[in-house]
Amino acid sequence: MTLSDKYKSIVFFTGAGMSAESGVPTYRGRGGIWSQYNWEEYACQEAFDRDPQKVLKFHELRRQSVLACQPHSGHHVIAELEKTHPQVRVVTQNIDGMHQRAGNRNVTELHGSLWRVGCRSHGIVEDMGETFKSCKCDQCGSWLRPDIVWFGDMLNQDVISEANLIVRRCDLFISIGTSGVVWPAAGFPRIAKESGAYCIEINPEPNEMSSLYDEAIRENAGRALPALFEINK
Ligand code: APR
Repeated sequence: MTLSDKYKSIVFFTGAGMSAESGVPTYRGRGGIWSQYNWEEYACQEAFDRDPQKVLKFHELRRQSVLACQPHSGHHVIAELEKTHPQVRVVTQNIDGMHQRAGNRNVTELHGSLWRVGCRSHGIVEDMGETFKSCKCDQCGSWLRPDIVWFGDMLNQDVISEANLIVRRCDLFISIGTSGVVWPAAGFPRIAKESGAYCIEINPEPNEMSSLYDEAIRENAGRALPALFEINK
């Protein structure tokens, strides 16, 4: 009996390590985005207010680098499971849209998306592609802000409530590639555990949250997921 036969409701809780083998850099650790770029210059509202063009340029570079990457076998396993298993959900901290590119539809994006921009007065619009379709709102002319949760931002309460509900209801919670330091996302493993889910961590490196899990797989996501679900993609 495989895990997907044994459990009814599976949550994949993903962080930057999920996309690492696709070539998208993680945030922390060697080669991490925040060791190359100072987030105070690129990833907070103050930076955007100070110099919107500089921040938009940075995000355009990230869009280009993400578009050059492809989902890996681990992404494909999760997408395949969603097709065959009605209660598979992805709750992700990633903004790269890689799960959707692999074919997942049930994705809750906690930290927003590189592929949306917004204006305070006129709302959020989807904007796919290497470059932004427009950097200014066509209705009021203000700079369009990437729809991303930056340092110091409040998370969207509706998204958090949805994620909370999904995590509380699952019976299998699999965390993949997160350092577990950014809240409130870092609280989800405990919520899953306290709600009675079996919790598995996939991460080559342990972290402060690791003791919470019932099982740890110290492997890369691209190797661990096909083996865990006996699916080769
Ligand atoms: N497979 C699985 N895990 C991996 C892999 C891999 N191939 N490669 C690296 N990892 C693990 C690392 O060991 C680390 O624990 O992925 C984790 C990446 O951690 P972070 O870079 O801190 O990413 P994340 O936890 O997603 O960051 C949370 O911080 O700046 C913000 O908003 C940003 O959503 C992001 C949030």
